[in-house]
Amino acid sequence: MLQIGPYRLDSLVVLAPMAGVTDLPFRQLCRKQGAGLVVSEMITSDTRLWKTRKSQYRMANSHEIEPRSVQIAGSDPVMMAQAAIASVENGAQIVDINMGCPAKKVCKKAAGSALMKDEKLVAEILQSVVNAVDIPVTLKTRTGWALDQRNAVTIAKIAEDCGIQALAIHGRTRACAFRGEVEYDTIADVKSRIGIPVIANGDIDSPQKALEVIKYTNADAIMIGRAAQGRPWICKEIDQYLLNGVIVAPPKKEQVKKILLEHLHALYEFYDEFMGVKIARKHVSWYLQSQTTYEISQSEEKSTMGRQNALSPKVFRQFFNKLEHAELQTQAINDYFDQSPDDNLILDNSTIVNTGNNTSTNTFIETQKKIINETSKNTDNAHLRDAAVKNHQEVIAA
Ligand SMILES: Cc1cc2nc3c(=O)[nH]c(=O)nc-3n(C[C@H](O)[C@H](O)[C@H](O)COP(=O)(O)O)c2cc1C
Repeated sequence: MLQIGPYRLDSLVVLAPMAGVTDLPFRQLCRKQGAGLVVSEMITSDTRLWKTRKSQYRMANSHEIEPRSVQIAGSDPVMMAQAAIASVENGAQIVDINMGCPAKKVCKKAAGSALMKDEKLVAEILQSVVNAVDIPVTLKTRTGWALDQRNAVTIAKIAEDCGIQALAIHGRTRACAFRGEVEYDTIADVKSRIGIPVIANGDIDSPQKALEVIKYTNADAIMIGRAAQGRPWICKEIDQYLLNGVIVAPPKKEQVKKILLEHLHALYEFYDEFMGVKIARKHVSWYLQSQTTYEISQSEEKSTMGRQNALSPKVFRQFFNKLEHAELQTQAINDYFDQSPDDNLILDNSTIVNTGNNTSTNTFIETQKKIINETSKNTDNAHLRDAAVKNHQEVIAA
């Protein structure tokens, strides 16, 4: 198992930091679903900006399951050291340095993956941060700035010499962004030349792919990002496959509903209802997509009729995205899952049109009418009723 300083991870799967995705509720969920380490969304090294609401949400949180890894991004060695110290004061147990982010906003300030162009500066930053704190410092890089400037091996050696305790590599250059094949060759090359743990990252979206990557690169663990969106249980599936060769069955309808509802409630609690409801929308959309992908792959033998009896995720998404209250979102998720015909609830929606003849869609709309009626009885819920009536009318009209 991967050891980072005093922390021995209980899984071979690390959740990638993803700005706008890996907030505290999602990190907690992924830890419970089998990730051994989760990394916070990057936070700027400019601590003067930490008072903003966005930065506050991204800080270390003492309620988080240990070890708490906080990612910092910046290009000034002194500021990076100060940010690391401040992160420790806030409860960080591992500091991760971002040299992998391709975002223009970040690279314009010569931070993120842009740093890889300046190896001297990389060494100064890493040394400065490692010297500043007593906790493990880790690094996340790409394979280089561009295809003709691949220097991941040099950067990895600098990192090891500076005292970095683990290195995650997204196997693409900055110029490649998220396009093209991942260069697992480069990750393998890096792994063969340094002694610190290497975590392989990029396009790993199944237990089988994870095993292939581990075998090919000899990496100590794997990091997954986008594949965990709407599918946090993939962490457990991958970990179990890597450890025991066991294929864990994907969660059943009831389990997915439970996980999703817990996720939504954690969002409402962490952000507040107003923001939580908005953030919930993208996660719900990912859950629906991940279920759709799974079902398509599993449902070759299903008849077209079977598909047509399922409620269209598209119709549901349109409806859900207009709900403005936690109570309504929760009710809608409950209804959506409860009214699906069987465990294969969310199917390919490409052939499903809301013609008025679709049984599940009609049942769903009937239930929404009931909610509207229920909420109408209670004058305290007038705002909920108004929102539901408006949504309902718009979906019917669509
Ligand atoms: C929406 C999004 C936000 C990201 N934010 C960060 C970030 O804050 N820090 C970072 O080092 N990488 C960030 N990344 C890159 C991921 O950590 C990861 O390296 C990349 O998605 C490749 O892994 P995957 O193919 O498993 O998704 C982000 C990626 C995405 C899709």
